[in-house]
Amino acid sequence: MLQPQYINIGEEQNVKLLVTGATGKLGTKVVEALLKTVPADQLVVSVRNPEKAEGLRARGVEVRQGDFDRPETLATAFKGIDRLLLISADGDNETRIRQHTNAVAAAQQAQVGFIAYTSLGNASESSIFLAPVHRATEEAIRNTGIAYSFLRNNWYLENETGSIQGVMAGAPWVTSAGSGKVGWAPRQDFAEAAAAVLAGNGHENTIYELSGTLHTQEEFAAALGGVLGKDVPVQQVDDETYADIMKGAGVPDFVIPILVAIQKGIRDGALEVESNDFEKLLGRPATPISEGLAQLVKELS
Ligand SMILES: NC(=O)c1ccc[n+]([C@@H]2O[C@H](COP(=O)([O-])OP(=O)(O)OC[C@H]3O[C@@H](n4cnc5c(N)ncnc54)[C@H](OP(=O)(O)O)[C@@H]3O)[C@@H](O)[C@H]2O)c1
Repeated sequence: MLQPQYINIGEEQNVKLLVTGATGKLGTKVVEALLKTVPADQLVVSVRNPEKAEGLRARGVEVRQGDFDRPETLATAFKGIDRLLLISADGDNETRIRQHTNAVAAAQQAQVGFIAYTSLGNASESSIFLAPVHRATEEAIRNTGIAYSFLRNNWYLENETGSIQGVMAGAPWVTSAGSGKVGWAPRQDFAEAAAAVLAGNGHENTIYELSGTLHTQEEFAAALGGVLGKDVPVQQVDDETYADIMKGAGVPDFVIPILVAIQKGIRDGALEVESNDFEKLLGRPATPISEGLAQLVKELS
């Protein structure tokens, strides 16, 4: 097994690390991972709503207010920061590109020394509809000349929560993704990898393709069946039928085209990225999907 490239930056005095989106689902886990190795007084979080981060403040983490839609807040939020983890925001592509561009400009203005960014699998080539956001942000970061690490997160296992709940309620596994493979891994793995890069040395100007072992929809359903102790039938349908089934399942109208586009992207191989970069960063491979699903099903039960 490869050893993690993990020399804790926390051992260097006065290095300030900042995490954006620290009150989000991924950010919360990143901060918890960092607090295991980095003294709390070297850690800063930039959040939209500081009240949500009160628990972190109580543990000695500095909480700053920063909103990607209000660049003036970012100049203050990023002041004096050496290493920044920019966690991508949510929303439509145009909004996210604008928000991320604001954050990158503020990091440059604040003379941040290193930016890690949560990108998407194969961002520079990918055809999936989400890719333009990540291509544009990676490019904006490269253009600053600041040392970077692009954390190209493949696909959260937790993205499948709705479908897993459907299966638990008796539905089949419905997909229009065909034989496209996905490198699913639990959010926890992506969070630990991000923490390792932010708090470690030797990650300047790197790209990590963070993929679990690649699986088809059928393999995923079989692993879920193993966890649930029942057969999970797979229904491969076309995009139109998939959209109808999602509508029938109560998915809001505005979400349906997004889900269809994701299925199409997977079908086209957008997430089929084979890589052992998790192992390089964590010193272990990504959590196998059977293990991740057992945990997720436990949380959902
Ligand atoms: N690869 C994948 O499978 C996958 C799947 C889903 C999402 N993602 C990406 O990964 C990101 C993190 O995932 P997640 O599950 O942690 O999502 P999440 O819980 O929705 O976290 C998004 C974070 O972005 C912050 N944010 C949103 N708009 C902002 C703004 N204008 N200014 C500053 N911060 C803002 C949110 O702040 P608040 O805490 O104030 O809400 C939140 O902390 C997502 O936003 C998305 O870009 C990747």
